Amino acid sequence: MIKIAVLTLSDKGARGERQDESGPAIKTALQDFGDVVNYDMLPDEMELIKEKLIEYSGKVDLIITTGGTGLSPRDVTPEATLAVIERQIPGIAETMRNESLKKTRRAMLSRAVAGVRGGTLIINMPGSPAAVREQLEIIADVLPHAIEKIKGDPADCART
Ligand code: MTE
Repeated sequence: MIKIAVLTLSDKGARGERQDESGPAIKTALQDFGDVVNYDMLPDEMELIKEKLIEYSGKVDLIITTGGTGLSPRDVTPEATLAVIERQIPGIAETMRNESLKKTRRAMLSRAVAGVRGGTLIINMPGSPAAVREQLEIIADVLPHAIEKIKGDPADCART
């Protein structure tokens, strides 16, 4: 089982004005796949998000963030993620957006990114619970292989 950290970014959630449904939705969706060992909710503050991503990196295999990927002035999750990752994995974000477009045209508005820091895979997702369920379904089958590769698995990538 892989170790997972979930980070919900929401000003309203952090102020206690909105219940977080997306964090628990991630936990449920990934229950056969790994253990959620950390869960935090933060306001949409660049420095706080960066600090938390750095804290988790190297300690868990996967960090899923939810929220703050859109276009409102307070949405800074992609910027905070880009500031801390060592390299991007554009294909993960591209695939999530492309597949999500089949469900909602608004999927094009998420600026989510994915990348690696300290051996930890970091993936941004939009804030809505429906979006995280949809997007986890889109990428779940490839996550184990991605994590093995990030950890340095030397085996050839067999085509399946
Ligand atoms: N992707 C999926 N799969 N499902 C959704 O409902 N919502 C979109 C988009 N991506 C959505 C989605 C909307 S309406 C917005 S504004 C952006 O994600 C950004 O959301 P965020 O600011 O909550 O991160």
